[in-house]
Amino acid sequence: MSALPSPVFPGEESPGDVSTIEPPLFALRELSVRYGAVQALAGVNLRVMPGERVALVGANGSGKSTLLRALHGLVRPSAGQLRRDGAPRVAMVFQRPFVLRTSALNNVALGLWLRRVRWQEACAQAAVALHRVGLQDIARQNARTLSGGQQQRLAFARAWALRPDVLLLDEPTASLDPHAKREIESLMADFAASHGSAGPDQPVTMLFSSHNLGQVKRLASRVLYLEHGRVLADLPVHDFFNGPLPEAARLFVKGEMA
Ligand SMILES: Nc1ncnc2c1ncn2[C@@H]1O[C@H](COP(=O)(O)OP(=O)(O)O)[C@@H](O)[C@H]1O
Ligand SMILES: [Mg+2]
Repeated sequence: MSALPSPVFPGEESPGDVSTIEPPLFALRELSVRYGAVQALAGVNLRVMPGERVALVGANGSGKSTLLRALHGLVRPSAGQLRRDGAPRVAMVFQRPFVLRTSALNNVALGLWLRRVRWQEACAQAAVALHRVGLQDIARQNARTLSGGQQQRLAFARAWALRPDVLLLDEPTASLDPHAKREIESLMADFAASHGSAGPDQPVTMLFSSHNLGQVKRLASRVLYLEHGRVLADLPVHDFFNGPLPEAARLFVKGEMA
């Protein structure tokens, strides 16, 4: 019997094509994180490509915040690998912004100054960032006197000023009223449509955790469902909401929609 040519599968073309395949921004292999006896993440495999908008969903304690912190380098893996390609600039926005008792402008400028931007230049860039989130008129106001929604916009200005390639958001609208929630969602959409430090052909990559499935539908391109530190579903947003899901994820979605 004569030898058949070996089959070529999609995605496994000749090695010559490899250079045209974009490297992932983050590549996680069997990543685990422990806090003492608590296994917060267990064997997570994940590749995030530039420009993706990834939503993390799952019950409290499922590991969403830990995954975001690991991507930011705030917690160390206890096992597995986390590779970041091309040293992306990463900024993070938390559920509750930390706000210093000084002007809104200083709050943003300090973030830049800590990254060695000269103070005068930092203030100029901070003013631009405050304008971008619609806080230009209260730039001189003590940030502690701002409303919850305004403080979260301030946190966005601080993130924006850093010109990040990757924006990590941990339940950014969870403690806001519906009006402020909509404002923040529109800033998230703006951010996702902007570009990173490398220029116009490098879209910003966004990962956010959320309990709001409407928000996930509106903003995400891809959804990860976590349970007990494991990723049980990883799907394009349309498939997550319309296709068949693993049983655990299906029950979660049903419960949240109810
Ligand atoms: N600093 C910490 N010390 C100890 N346990 C923690 C800490 N942070 C989170 N955990 C635990 O790790 C698990 C995952 O938490 P977390 O990542 O915050 O989940 P989520 O954001 O989905 O609510 C939970 O069991 C939580 O109690
Ligand atoms: Mg959390």
